[in-house]
Amino acid sequence: MATASLELQGLNFNLSEEHLAVQEAARDFAQNELLPGIVERDNEARFPASQVKRMGELGFLGMMVSPDYGGGGMDTVSYVLAMEEISKIDASASVIMSVNNSLVCYGLEAFGTEAQKQKYLTRLATGETIGAFCLSEPEAGSDATSQSTTAEDKGDYYLVNGTKNWITNGNSSGICLVIAQTDREKKHRGINCLIVEKGTPGFVVGKKEDKMGIRSSDTHSLLFTDVKIPKENRIGDDGFGFKFAMSTLNGGRIGIAAQALGIAAGAYELALKYSQERKSFGKQIFEHQAIQFKLAEMATKIEAARLLVYKAARLKDEHKDYVQAAAMAKLFASEIAMWATTEAVQIHGGYGYVKEFHVERLMRDAKITQIYEGTSEIQKLVIARELIR
Ligand code: CAA
Repeated sequence: MATASLELQGLNFNLSEEHLAVQEAARDFAQNELLPGIVERDNEARFPASQVKRMGELGFLGMMVSPDYGGGGMDTVSYVLAMEEISKIDASASVIMSVNNSLVCYGLEAFGTEAQKQKYLTRLATGETIGAFCLSEPEAGSDATSQSTTAEDKGDYYLVNGTKNWITNGNSSGICLVIAQTDREKKHRGINCLIVEKGTPGFVVGKKEDKMGIRSSDTHSLLFTDVKIPKENRIGDDGFGFKFAMSTLNGGRIGIAAQALGIAAGAYELALKYSQERKSFGKQIFEHQAIQFKLAEMATKIEAARLLVYKAARLKDEHKDYVQAAAMAKLFASEIAMWATTEAVQIHGGYGYVKEFHVERLMRDAKITQIYEGTSEIQKLVIARELIR
């Protein structure tokens, strides 16, 4: 049955035929449907609308959601395998996928009411619409408890006011999970998460960010002015919003770790191929030890990142504590992504600096993995706290 396996500290990484089929499907989709036109989409910062629709049809937008709500019912290992393959080619598509899967769908499925799941989760899991996770604010990035957006309790509804920043899927999403402060005296225990639909009066999509990388994902600020949200749209008990955000981000970090791994592996594969095509000083550049050492180091560190990503995914699937493992995977994989993509550009020389060869895009895309869903510094904080917990 198992065709690829790997053992680490008693953890069993057997990949089943189903896992390998998911990996292959994601690889084919990335090669055949994401690669064509990718340079133009990146140049124009154009949202990959038809490709996202296809991701929904192929089941990549609700991979881990129960089939009862239109999802694929798959495990986290399947999800990271797909994320890696898609990120090798198109990290913009993979962040759209990651936010929908591991922040929005996961958050709703794990903590939402049955009515919320029926109303919203099925639409998100099938790709009828996509979701956005709205935590960051102009003055609250890493310091996420400092929420300025308010959700005033008005009896049977909340009145939402404020601004969210750097929201992935900001314009293209139909359903947003909005974190806001209800009771400031209770600090983070006075924060709520509300499900807010696009089109709700007072809810406006703001400025589109002109980004260094992941340029074809759409990142916007969102503005809320006296937006009325019924109480039934609150996720969990009153004051659960910050815990909700943190718990959801623990899993989200596995998705971004897999994205970083894919970016690194994609750059490495391109560099390895190029090193066997390009000649200098009368031989393939792979024959030069300077290039061999770079590739050997890249292969080793990428494999180490892969182990951390699989470990975090497997722990989540086995319902074991994965907070530290997810933070370690994200920290390491994102640092490796930045380093390996830079090395891939170096191996390509002048060609690496131009767009047709893809590695400069991967290098630009890699940078964000050290920043979103918790910066590298925040991951170190999370890891350190777990060391003495
Ligand atoms: N899992 C579960 N709960 C957690 C948690 C975790 N990893 N980290 C903290 N908490 C809980 C704590 O238990 C505590 O709850 P109680 O008091 O009820 O026990 C509460 O959250 C507050 O925790 P702290 O006292 O530790 O708060 P802090 O302010 O000292 O630190 C932080 C919190 C870890 C720095 C947090 O603010 C954080 O993770 N910041 C980074 C935010 C982030 O990742 N943003 C990403 C934006 S989303 C995004 O990027 C999506 C996208 O578009 C791609």
